[in-house]
Amino acid sequence: MSAARLEVRGLTKRFGGLVAVRDIGFSIQPGEILGLIGPNGSGKSTVMKLIMGIERPNAGSVRLNGAEIAGWPTHRIARAGIGIVFQHSRPLHRQTVLEHIKLALLPDSLLRLAADPAVEGKARAIASRVGLETVLGRHPGTLAFADLRRLELAKAIAREPSVVLVDEPFAGLTPSEVASFSELIRGFRAEGKAVLLVDHNVKSVAALVDRALAMYLGERIAEGTAETVMRDEQVRRVYLGGSIEAAARVSTGTDAASPLLAVEGVSVLYGKAQALDNVSITVREREFVSVVGLNGAGKTTLFNAVSGLVPYRGTIRFAERTLAGTSAAAIARAGIVQCPETRELFGEMSVAENLELGGAHLTNAARTEQLAWLLDLFPILAERARQNAATLSGGEQQMLAIARALMMRPRLLILDEPTLGLAPVILEQLSKALARLHTTTEITVLLGEQNVTFALPHADRIYVLEHARIIWEGPPARFAAEAGAQYL
Ligand SMILES: Nc1ncnc2c1ncn2[C@@H]1O[C@H](COP(=O)(O)OP(=O)(O)OP(=O)(O)O)[C@@H](O)[C@H]1O
Ligand SMILES: [Mg+2]
Repeated sequence: MSAARLEVRGLTKRFGGLVAVRDIGFSIQPGEILGLIGPNGSGKSTVMKLIMGIERPNAGSVRLNGAEIAGWPTHRIARAGIGIVFQHSRPLHRQTVLEHIKLALLPDSLLRLAADPAVEGKARAIASRVGLETVLGRHPGTLAFADLRRLELAKAIAREPSVVLVDEPFAGLTPSEVASFSELIRGFRAEGKAVLLVDHNVKSVAALVDRALAMYLGERIAEGTAETVMRDEQVRRVYLGGSIEAAARVSTGTDAASPLLAVEGVSVLYGKAQALDNVSITVREREFVSVVGLNGAGKTTLFNAVSGLVPYRGTIRFAERTLAGTSAAAIARAGIVQCPETRELFGEMSVAENLELGGAHLTNAARTEQLAWLLDLFPILAERARQNAATLSGGEQQMLAIARALMMRPRLLILDEPTLGLAPVILEQLSKALARLHTTTEITVLLGEQNVTFALPHADRIYVLEHARIIWEGPPARFAAEAGAQYL
């Protein structure tokens, strides 16, 4: 048997009383992809951070080509040949896409090499390989979501690592983007790199990996081929769950003449780019409306217009009141609460404090009741009550953001891509929670999703937003036949 490129033994990490990773071991050969799966908070990202030296292990060994690197500082580990593609990208905003890739190509002597024309050519070649050639001069802040992920991949490629750690590359990507990212990762394998891959898109992971390891509460629960691991009884129970029920449901919207929310002929321009083009939608009191659209279609812009966060042409009315000229704060007080894709949590405050802030306007009794309901919905938030929001796992942050929005007891709840980064079993829980919310409270919901499997079962009505325009409207039952081609 050939020597492992990366060999991890007995890796353990404690955060205070919590054991985030306990006695994890595996090895990856050159040209092999190992998938790491498990529910939110099971320790996957922590394993990657321990290998990368971003967190120091309490115990265990990490060997790269046989040499011990556990405890080394990150920059030294990077130079030794390990690269990471983070779950959340935080690019520098002053540099263009091309400059970002060039910086990644220049490990040490920045200034001496910056003028080297070979660097420019190499950076351009990497950009084309990941599909960034048309946005080379742009700044990260203006990039579409998938392009930001591409930039992270490009930076990892530029550093020429022999081991690549990829954390949730598929989150928020469309099916065709997932296919092209899968191709790139197969390219790493073909070049003989050792790859460790984490993602909640179970189908795509299974199609890509040579082997899989499943974690739960920091520990290994199964290992083997993707097929064996996905069939494992415990993996099914704690991670995969059942399927989301698509049972037809009775519409709860009222037939009142005037809708709760009326968006009429709304257009939004970002510079010259038309982000929304004459968009009209209505949401009736107690209705559940889903806006389905791929990345960059304009969903977030539509929600931001409603919440008073971007200027627009056209009219938006809420409870028969025109919103133009109303501040975002006043719109929130009127009962529109948006749970943004970017979560906007207070990172340095605890889980409990984030939730309490959400319920600050409620009476003590109402706040206690709402909090109990939410902690029942998301038990992990009770366990993590004292932890800073910034240190929660990706999926835990998503749950906290949704819970905080619900804490405000909104009249209209806007959920922007709530499924991003959630494990299958949590999606199922969230789906049930929304169904319960819908039948037991007066709440009206406007949901933006690209995950149609999640958006359809709950919706009374669907709008399809494509390239800044509404191109279809109808009941879920007609969606598959009339509009579903690129989503299903
Ligand atoms: N600095 C920290 N302090 C305290 N707890 C932490 C810290 N960092 C991580 N944790 C906890 O460790 C556990 C493992 O987190 P990790 O980010 O590794 O999960 P994950 O498997 O990547 O989950 P997800 O799929 O949601 O991204 C989580 O419960 C998290 O809240
Ligand atoms: Mg993670």
